[in-house]
Amino acid sequence: MKTPAATMKGTEVLERKNAEALLGGGEKRIDSQHSKGKLTARERVELLMDEGSFEEIGKFVTHRAKDFGLDKEHYLGDGVITGYGTVAGRLTYVFAQDFTVFGGSLSETHAEKIIKIMDMAMKNGAPVVGLNDSGGARIQEGVVSLAGYADIFYKNTLASGVIPQISAVMGPCAGGAVYSPAITDFIMMVENTSYMFVTGPNVVKTVTHEEVTSEELGGAMTHATKSGVTHFVAANEVQCIEYLKKLLSYIPQNCEDEAPHLPYEITDETRPVLDDIIPENPNQPYDIREVIEEIADAGSFFEVHKYFAENIVVGFARLAGRSIGIVANQPAVLAGVLDINASQKAARFVRFCDSFNIPLLVLEDVPGFLPGTDQEWNAIITNGAKLLYAFCEATVPRITVITRKAYGGAYDVMNSKHIGADMNYAWPTAEIAVMGASGAAEIIFKKEIAEADDPAAKLQEKVEEYTQKFANPYRAAQRGYVDEVIYPAQTREKLIRAFAMLENKVDVLPKKKHGNIPL
Ligand code: HXC
Repeated sequence: MKTPAATMKGTEVLERKNAEALLGGGEKRIDSQHSKGKLTARERVELLMDEGSFEEIGKFVTHRAKDFGLDKEHYLGDGVITGYGTVAGRLTYVFAQDFTVFGGSLSETHAEKIIKIMDMAMKNGAPVVGLNDSGGARIQEGVVSLAGYADIFYKNTLASGVIPQISAVMGPCAGGAVYSPAITDFIMMVENTSYMFVTGPNVVKTVTHEEVTSEELGGAMTHATKSGVTHFVAANEVQCIEYLKKLLSYIPQNCEDEAPHLPYEITDETRPVLDDIIPENPNQPYDIREVIEEIADAGSFFEVHKYFAENIVVGFARLAGRSIGIVANQPAVLAGVLDINASQKAARFVRFCDSFNIPLLVLEDVPGFLPGTDQEWNAIITNGAKLLYAFCEATVPRITVITRKAYGGAYDVMNSKHIGADMNYAWPTAEIAVMGASGAAEIIFKKEIAEADDPAAKLQEKVEEYTQKFANPYRAAQRGYVDEVIYPAQTREKLIRAFAMLENKVDVLPKKKHGNIPL
């Protein structure tokens, strides 16, 4: 938009104020921000939004505080840039905390600005992206800044499942401030410059006597690998913003919208390489990502939570131009077993996809749940139930392909026919049974094996008998639990057709206030 001529009546003041607002906390603090390898809030917004599309709201807002000298210190915008624009042509609301103004700390008015755009996003059905870089509650303001945080948490919760909310943490995020990002759908962090914790290293040292750096306690890789708090880790801020744009490209604007369809012309969709992907030895691992790459549109897989609970792989992809969410056991890590972290990771992803009408594809190769005291005492029961519940409740189109193992309770949990999957395919290599053949034979033929002249030979005989009977997909296909046993090479073609068939699926859950997912 062109700036009107400064000669017009009153525009000198406007020009001066605009220039002042652009400077945030001033040149010195901007230089300091750059010297830490960080961009300013305005630079981040410019990178995120389509060129020239950003419209700022509340540029001249200032705080109302008077204590501790604040009555003499005002910065236009009060430490947060808020507004709307487009990302890849789609309406997106954004707030970017400006660390150059009171360390991006959250005041009463700063919070009001964020809430204003959240309310607009809700009314107009578009995502909110938060670019967080803040020293937390504005200390000089006391309880009104705490109230501001609580107002935001409340809005985050009301907006959850209505519009996508994404948080990029690009600087400090400490104390209760972490709970806004935590309620949003996805968190991104930047290596070496962002950190999140409820209590920082100093408090940790006082209370627990642990010596830990900010990076170790709450840096990007810590939260990517240990806690699972962050879903994405970027090497730098530019990459982080690229990830934000990419993520938005897979998801719809709101819960009543559909994700964008990219144009796609169906040609030869067979993928012969899949016929040889399962190793001869059923206990040998393979990388499920190679299967995903063959099934999804070329280069379209965008992994979520890549470094956390690597025994399950989740992420977005496109199939013939349509967005899908993929949940896949990873035989290359812990044989693809389901444990607490894997269950939580997958459950959260399933619920996001279901909230926002993104069909789900499950690739199953799972030997069961991980045994042991650690898992039992830390509630694998409750946590495994999260994934079960999430699948049971999902009404989006849901398809499963059993590539190899589907054992025990994990067979039921991983989007089985019985819990509402729409189409269930199995490869000829599928083994669907209560447990592995040798364990099963040892239990059910215990007496016969013990009494045999050659117990080892008897065990082998019984293992083979059990394998022939159950460790294949045909029993399940006989019952209709598996709709079709398919050649692996045809998987992509079958899935394209099946998801197209399910495009207008309508499934309604029983009327209720809300369910009570095991938390
Ligand atoms: C007011 C703050 C501030 C805050 C930083 N500043 N945090 N002003 N309220 N919370 C100001 C500083 O005074 C300084 O002002 C400028 O921001 C930059 O801060 P520096 O300390 O110089 O920067 P740096 O060395 O990079 O350290 C950043 C920091 C540190 C790690 C964030 O400032 C810090 O520890 N701040 C306090 C963090 C904190 O305890 N917050 C409260 C958490 S409790 P000048 O004028 O020099 O530029 C909380 C509760 C939320 O947030 C509850 C929600 C339920």
